[in-house]
Amino acid sequence: MSLIVCRDLVKTYHLGEMDVHALLGVSLTIDTGEFVAVMGASGSGKSTLMNILGCLDVPTAGTYTLEGTDVSTLGENRLAEIRNSKIGFVFQNFNLIPRTTALENVQLPLFYRGIPAHEQKALALRALERVGLADRQRHHPAQLSGGQQQRVAIARALVTDPSIILADEPTGNLDSQASREIMETLTQLNREGITIILVTHEAEIAGYARRAITPTEWPSRASSRRRCGHELSADDGGRGVPCPRAQSHALGADDAGDHHRGGGRDRDG
Ligand SMILES: Nc1ncnc2c1ncn2[C@@H]1O[C@H](COP(=O)(O)OP(=O)(O)O)[C@@H](O)[C@H]1O
Ligand SMILES: [Mg+2]
Repeated sequence: MSLIVCRDLVKTYHLGEMDVHALLGVSLTIDTGEFVAVMGASGSGKSTLMNILGCLDVPTAGTYTLEGTDVSTLGENRLAEIRNSKIGFVFQNFNLIPRTTALENVQLPLFYRGIPAHEQKALALRALERVGLADRQRHHPAQLSGGQQQRVAIARALVTDPSIILADEPTGNLDSQASREIMETLTQLNREGITIILVTHEAEIAGYARRAITPTEWPSRASSRRRCGHELSADDGGRGVPCPRAQSHALGADDAGDHHRGGGRDRDG
């Protein structure tokens, strides 16, 4: 059985009078244990796709089946359960809490689960060991290099023992040496059995993955249209699609700026 099966995913955002078509019918299949790079131009819907794959958001239309469960129609509580039990997130901006040690940053997801403090520490330390940073556990993010901060973020994603890691441009803010280290870390985790789905627009980074996919169904350009009259019927079917940004905030993940910039580009395009 495939781990992930997406069929004809459509995602439409409403911005005032505009409909922004972020995904226009993306289909893909990913098996357990794969290391896949999702490639596409800026604004093509990669982060939107990752939000859906990570159960942070639901599609406007189409289906998403994760380990045999159709998650495209689930409510927020069930989505959160699936997200918390199966998925670890890594973002371009690391999203670490500044005045907090590396160890405490990694402990955070366990704290939210009500795991006893001593257990939190032991698990967080083990996760830092897996990314080669046990000796930096007491450092604050500002006392770490960009690559080390991203490794702390990977440890935080790992600490809950996810079967899937979703990494959205994890090397986007790093120099090439740090990027290589991050990709080697992800490669090692994949060897240990974790399915890795990575977004990148760099061929060299995608080269670490065993397969690169470039959905042909990305919206090409000028995919926003005014919402007036019958021409635009695509909608969320009254499902009340939640804003991914609000949920990202809840997780400490914040690429809202990205979305806003993208929105501007789209309108102009
Ligand atoms: N929350 C949102 N509200 C409105 N538009 C959005 C939102 N998120 C993304 N978009 C728009 O959807 C398109 C795809 O965005 P995104 O998935 O962030 O692209 P990528 O990650 O490939 O750069 C862009 O035009 C962007 O402006
Ligand atoms: Mg993006």
